[in-house]
Amino acid sequence: MQNFLELENVAIEADSTGTSHMLSETLVFSRASGCWLFDTSGKRFFDGTGGSGAINLGHQHPRVVDAAMAQLQKLIHTGCKLQSDIRAELVTKLGAFSPYKQCAVLFTVTGAEAIEAALKVARAYTERKLVIAFERSYHGKTTGALMATWREQLKAYSVLPQHGILHSPYPILHSSHNQNYSTNFCLQALQKTIEQALDMGHPPAAILIEPIQVTEGVLPASREFLEGVIAIAKSAGCLTIFDEIYTGFGRCGTPFYGSQDGITPDLLVIGKALGNGLPISATLGNPTLINALPSGIQTSTFSGQPLACAVGSVVLDIMVETTPWQQARRTGSLIVEFLKELATNRCLISAPRGEGLMIGFDCVDSQGLPSPELAKAFTKKAMAKGLIFYCGGFEDCTIKLTPPLTMNEEELEFLMSTLAHVVAEL
Ligand SMILES: Cc1ncc(COP(=O)(O)O)c(C=O)c1O
Repeated sequence: MQNFLELENVAIEADSTGTSHMLSETLVFSRASGCWLFDTSGKRFFDGTGGSGAINLGHQHPRVVDAAMAQLQKLIHTGCKLQSDIRAELVTKLGAFSPYKQCAVLFTVTGAEAIEAALKVARAYTERKLVIAFERSYHGKTTGALMATWREQLKAYSVLPQHGILHSPYPILHSSHNQNYSTNFCLQALQKTIEQALDMGHPPAAILIEPIQVTEGVLPASREFLEGVIAIAKSAGCLTIFDEIYTGFGRCGTPFYGSQDGITPDLLVIGKALGNGLPISATLGNPTLINALPSGIQTSTFSGQPLACAVGSVVLDIMVETTPWQQARRTGSLIVEFLKELATNRCLISAPRGEGLMIGFDCVDSQGLPSPELAKAFTKKAMAKGLIFYCGGFEDCTIKLTPPLTMNEEELEFLMSTLAHVVAEL
């Protein structure tokens, strides 16, 4: 039989997944350890993306690898409708880790799928359709989640009618933006958005919010704003959904960033770091809400897959035993302080901000205006020095740092000195 690699077919990967993006054009990774990715030539790179925020415990964490290996030997897959012991175990642990005294877990595979499931729950419970999300929100790119994602050029591919969604202003609490985006302004605007929905004859089913907007620029909301959103949702008779897919599992210096200090959304959506690299996501909430969605309405082949659940289960063990959010808080504040110092010395860096190891700063030109070109140049120079991160945000000028929470002193030193060298060279 012919070796299939010898066939003359030519295959490339679709551009739309972004692997042809400048960051990875010349990089192909073949292994990883802790905070480091290694390319096929053996050169190491500090992973300032933290695997898009999914590798909170570091790459190839030995206990995660062991748990996955053990589960691989026993039971990889059952299909979503068949229960497994490890899945039941993860449900119990998620309940204990969650802010809910009574917790139901609705498993999904990706973040976008979890958002869609949460929206279905809200629609089933309230028997309403309309959803309120926020300007600059990012909730995933499947066609259903795109309804709530804000960026027009992404939304253009949603098959859903746009009248099921309204976007309300979200606070921007740093730099020159606060004037029209203060907490108070945005809470008043949200009240008006509710009134607009009522005028349209569509009372809202849910208000969906990222406690920190990450994709569009690392923009944290204040506690006051999150409390206000919950109060407004309550008086409108709709559910609050916190999208903690990025902000959860210690990333921002606490187990969850939004759901703490007595602030509890009706539904909490999680993903990314729950699997520390394996695809698993979920919606959590009180059983009376979650079970408003009838049996069989939300299945997908790989939901609650035993292999992913085994990893989720050990991730929660490690989280509870090592509380990595404390380290993230300490390391994060050192990095932000360092960036503030860099910013006072050079006008290139503006508005350093962050919570735990969710850190952002903007690249600006000599007039202080957002500079996408500088952000790109910054990113490229850092990559050449073995430091990888993403740039983007709604002004295309934000550098985003979301490394593993487990980075040590030496790695912190590498990160800071590399950033300083890049600034010096630009
Ligand atoms: C806040 C937020 N919600 C949803 C998603 C979508 O998750 P996924 O890419 O796993 O579908 C992301 C992904 O980055 C995200 O940051």
